[in-house]
Amino acid sequence: MTKQHHAQWSSRLTFILAAVGSSVGLGNIWKFPYMTGESGGGAFVLIYLLCILLVGIPILMSEWLLGRIGQRNPISTMSSLTTRLKRSPAWVLIGVFGILGAYLILSFYSVIGGWALAYIQLGAVNTFTGLESEAIGALFSDMLASPLQLLLWHSLFMILTIGVVLGGVTGGLERATKTLMPTLVVLLIVLVGYAATSGAFAEGVSYLFTPDFSKLSSDGVLAAMGHAFFTLSLGMGIMIAYGSYLPKHVNIGRSAIIVVLMDTAIALMAGLAIFPVVFANDLSPSSGPGLIFQTLPLAFGHMPGGWFFGLLFFVLLVFAAWTSAISLLEPIVEWFEEKTPLSRVGATLVAGGATWALGIATVLSFNVWADVAPLGIFAKFEGMTIFALLDYFTSKLILPLTGLATVIFVGWRMSREEVRENLNMGEMAFNLWRFAARFIAPLGVVAVFIVSL
Ligand code: PHE
Ligand code: NA
Repeated sequence: MTKQHHAQWSSRLTFILAAVGSSVGLGNIWKFPYMTGESGGGAFVLIYLLCILLVGIPILMSEWLLGRIGQRNPISTMSSLTTRLKRSPAWVLIGVFGILGAYLILSFYSVIGGWALAYIQLGAVNTFTGLESEAIGALFSDMLASPLQLLLWHSLFMILTIGVVLGGVTGGLERATKTLMPTLVVLLIVLVGYAATSGAFAEGVSYLFTPDFSKLSSDGVLAAMGHAFFTLSLGMGIMIAYGSYLPKHVNIGRSAIIVVLMDTAIALMAGLAIFPVVFANDLSPSSGPGLIFQTLPLAFGHMPGGWFFGLLFFVLLVFAAWTSAISLLEPIVEWFEEKTPLSRVGATLVAGGATWALGIATVLSFNVWADVAPLGIFAKFEGMTIFALLDYFTSKLILPLTGLATVIFVGWRMSREEVRENLNMGEMAFNLWRFAARFIAPLGVVAVFIVSL
């Protein structure tokens, strides 16, 4: 059973807000800085930006376009398109892998969202004021050491996410996004301003923007590309689903530029806020997933009004993570609803429950199972915890492969006219776009895979 054509977004703004809500999240503020630090800085950032521009934008536009043409969820969209265009039904795997990717990602995303919740609580009781880096580091490691604490915060984050999907109140969230995203941007500017006074601003800036390719491993190149997919919510069918709500008159290219600029600006500001603090306090840029939790509280603990800014920051971070998490849960729920006799409520509880359960493996990856490396017999996966593996298989494999298939389908298996008509761009811009979709983006992804082998 496929769902029939549904109501479209009331306006372009609503659509953009939903897309920004999905794309801006932990990927920008938590993951981008720590991956940059693990991969040596500027060269990683440069490759990441190139991937956003040359691979991310064409694929984002392809996903929206497929959704707008197909008017259904990703799996039904792909099956109706392949039937109409007489293409292999194997393309439907784009939708299937998208849902698998969303499930795996949400399981660990929620655990990190839980960390942010824990830091709202710490911020609220004014924990950071006056603390030095050692004490701030201890707060973080104490939290990680307690499976029970992590489990409780992860559960709370999942409940918040399930609650919204159950209640179907995403409209209210989009309205909130309109105020809270700009507030987040202003707060990041304040943080960058504080970083500018930290004494190591120049060092931080040069770390981010001076590419030193000797520091970038081939795995770092793959990480940069994978993160371009992660941060834009690509390769999961989410943007295909959103595209199905996109009115005909809305310009896909212009919308893509707005969403991508917003997402990229927020990631770069997070980097500019964090690295000067890292260098000013002799911390290690490569300390991993804890990076923002070990640096930003240090800034809040020392800046004027730090209690207020710290609390506000973690509230906004949770909000951004929450809107992304909802966009991850939606497609899993839809899939359960369609493939099983479950009602909407049942599907939401089962999908949410299954994601919560898998999240426990990530919770344990930071303590009890910190030394468990399930694929450790392979040199490539040596020492990788379950959390690290989930991240690896989604960002570095599933998302890029699904995205690659998407852009090949749009570039090579659909007629030029149909794509042209839906993108309504000028002739020259369209030709440029089509060249990117047919050659640059697919070859870019393939080249990165080859380099990293
Ligand atoms: N793009 C989100 C972020 O950057 C994460 C996400 C990934 C959301 C995939 C939906 C799908 O945090
Ligand atoms: Na993002």
